[in-house]
Amino acid sequence: MAFRILILGGTRDAMTLAEQLLEQPALEPTYSLAGRTRRPLPPALPTRRGGFGGIEGLKQWLMEHDIAAVVDATHPFAAEMSHNAAIACQELDLPLGRLERAPWEPGPDDNWHPVTDLHEAARKATELTRPGDTLWLTTGRTSLPAFEGITGRHLLVRCVDPPDPEPSFENWTLIEDRGPYDLEAERRIITQHNVAALITKNSGGEAAHPKLDAAREAGLPVIIIDRPSLPPATHSFQSPEAVLEWLQQAVRVIEAYQTGSGEL
Ligand SMILES: NC(=O)c1ccc[n+]([C@@H]2O[C@H](COP(=O)([O-])OP(=O)(O)OC[C@H]3O[C@@H](n4cnc5c(N)ncnc54)[C@H](OP(=O)(O)O)[C@@H]3O)[C@@H](O)[C@H]2O)c1
Repeated sequence: MAFRILILGGTRDAMTLAEQLLEQPALEPTYSLAGRTRRPLPPALPTRRGGFGGIEGLKQWLMEHDIAAVVDATHPFAAEMSHNAAIACQELDLPLGRLERAPWEPGPDDNWHPVTDLHEAARKATELTRPGDTLWLTTGRTSLPAFEGITGRHLLVRCVDPPDPEPSFENWTLIEDRGPYDLEAERRIITQHNVAALITKNSGGEAAHPKLDAAREAGLPVIIIDRPSLPPATHSFQSPEAVLEWLQQAVRVIEAYQTGSGEL
């Protein structure tokens, strides 16, 4: 019998894990996307799209699909989904493996200003810059309303899909792009748009890191939003490979139990 698992995705790491799971016949994964991105990267696994309907909806789905374990490979800022997964798994007594990329850490030459949320980021950006300056905003299109109170600055917004509805910024430019990003292109953005400060979530990972290198080289202040805190998961991993190893081990334990050669 296959070991059914749910992968909560929407990240590059989740895609890597999905590719690795294709070669695991003992595992029967379903990949789940929130369904917000217009052109999502197509995962190679059977995929469902859209919310579950909160904790109760998720519990129902997990029971109906006879899921044996959940992998939370969502973005570190997808706090609601991660919270719901943690509570649903606790209540159903299901193992939950969370794939958590390490947060970025500042080096000695970085000029970072950590803040706790988007609204504090908007206040800090105004404090650190002058009227007429350009702020480079990379916090995602759903975060834009938090910056609508900023006046007298030019907002350079980079996101995967265009914001809908459009934000009511006084003055702004959209760069529609999806990572991974490279250092040369990030340097060009800073010089061409004369960026005065960068605003980012502390997402971690390699794909979005070059903007921080480019900001450091240019001596720019970086307003960096701390990660939300989450309820604990039963297991935590820093790489897709480590998640795969955990799942393979679970399969071996169950198979040994089913053939009578081991204990759970
Ligand atoms: N937040 C970011 O900065 C960011 C960046 C890159 C990628 N993403 C990806 O974009 C998706 C949405 O992020 P978010 O920050 O809007 O999430 P969120 O605020 O934590 O989640 C809001 C609701 O969206 C649904 N949802 C979220 N992720 C889902 C998934 N993988 N599968 C099914 N339903 C999901 C759930 O609805 P129900 O309550 O109805 O189940 C959840 O309660 C996530 O998959 C995340 O990995 C987020």
